[in-house]
Amino acid sequence: MEHVLGIDVGTGGTRALLVDRSGAICGSATCEHVPFASPRTGWAEQDPEDWWQAAGKAVRGALEQAPQAKVACVGLAGQMHGAVLLDAADQVLRPAIIWCDQRSAQQCDWLNSMVGEQRIIELTSNPALTNFTLTKLLWVRDREPEVWKRFQRLLLPKDYVRLRMTGEHAMDVADASGTLMLDVAHRRWSEEMLSLAGIPPSSVPRLYESPEICARVSPAGAAHLGLSAGTPVVAGAGDQAGGAVGMGIVRAGAISATIGTSGVVFAATDNPAMDVKGRVHTFCHAVPGRWHVMGVTQAAGLSLRWIRGLLENSTSISYDQLTREAAQAPAGSDGVLWTPYLMGERTPHLDPSARATLTGLAASHTRAHMVRAVLEGVAFSLKDTFALFREMGVPVSKIRLGGGGARSPLWGQIQADVYGSEVEILRAEEGAAYGAGLLAAVGARFWNSVEEACDAVVEVERQIRPEAAAARVMVEQYERYRQIYPALKFFAPRG
Ligand code: XUL
Repeated sequence: MEHVLGIDVGTGGTRALLVDRSGAICGSATCEHVPFASPRTGWAEQDPEDWWQAAGKAVRGALEQAPQAKVACVGLAGQMHGAVLLDAADQVLRPAIIWCDQRSAQQCDWLNSMVGEQRIIELTSNPALTNFTLTKLLWVRDREPEVWKRFQRLLLPKDYVRLRMTGEHAMDVADASGTLMLDVAHRRWSEEMLSLAGIPPSSVPRLYESPEICARVSPAGAAHLGLSAGTPVVAGAGDQAGGAVGMGIVRAGAISATIGTSGVVFAATDNPAMDVKGRVHTFCHAVPGRWHVMGVTQAAGLSLRWIRGLLENSTSISYDQLTREAAQAPAGSDGVLWTPYLMGERTPHLDPSARATLTGLAASHTRAHMVRAVLEGVAFSLKDTFALFREMGVPVSKIRLGGGGARSPLWGQIQADVYGSEVEILRAEEGAAYGAGLLAAVGARFWNSVEEACDAVVEVERQIRPEAAAARVMVEQYERYRQIYPALKFFAPRG
């Protein structure tokens, strides 16, 4: 029977999923990455070779579970924005500077003064942010001239894996949207932006729509992954657009709130909808002819991982244990509040220097209060995006939860209470790898369109309704939460 393979090159690991013609998963495996290196505050780097090795292990692991499977097409999704710099022989020039790296504030200032803040938004639909690939490239130009001299080609993380898999340089418009070099409204490279920033057009790859076939597995790629040479590969998508496809967020009105390392509130739109201040990202969707807007919390799951690391003693605590314990604290955490700005913040502050805070502590508080406050603080941060969607007139008819925030019953309930709205949990929520698999399935003509694929396979399992009393407490806590950032902003160290 024919299958497709979806691969998600994430931050923490690479996941491979084997999906059959009915959309069922017949094999899955994940291989962890070496944790990202942070040689200085706010820096985040990974070795692309590690992604390729992890892809080999994950794909082979998934294939072993269904030895009869015949892979008709492969789709890739991946962490967005990371700059992989290659020389003329496609050798990696330095560790990839990944999405959450915050080192390029000066390069943002330079772009704003050279090009003009408004012009940048006109050209790319987005403002200059430290997360976006172009600013990372400019940092290398400014700080590592030796590397810059040898730089020939740019790829995003999953596209580097594709290069190793197929020998082709290719990128989809959804992932390219996060480079700050794409003319998002017209789904093509912005020649003006490339020229103003001094980036040679030859360094950026050819663009495709996400379900388009753009390459075939090479003999070397096949040997590493355990696939057949010649297997077609679709362009795929960044992990957010890919994950949204996997959750059926493909038409206007449907919204997802997904908590991974980062947290994202994502809406599909029929046009490139924009916030005048650029506080949400306006990107091409993985669905041809559609766009999406999303607000990003830099440290969502990362907040929980971080506090777990701090609270842990010699015996390690599982996330389940930790959230069960947190459920003993009351809604509102008895006044304890967390602002999750461990890696600066994107939505709504656009401030790489923002710092996280845990406030409102009293001697009576326990670990449960602190952990619950972290879960609530992440949900408050995601709620900030809903407020912006309202201002922008982006319709919100249903909210689906994804990632860790959907798997934890407590975090699911907290989100329903904080958003003051019913939320949906899907029967199988397999993240961006599943979306990549569906894109591959469209490439293989299992379905005629991304929407058709989603309608056939995505199922809602249950709804969580807000609890009235808890939701009232959350309204008050959110008001307090909103006051913390402006009050503490002046104390955050700069630079
Ligand atoms: C999206 C973003 C993250 C990364 C890592 O803009 O930066 O979601 O893609 O997952």
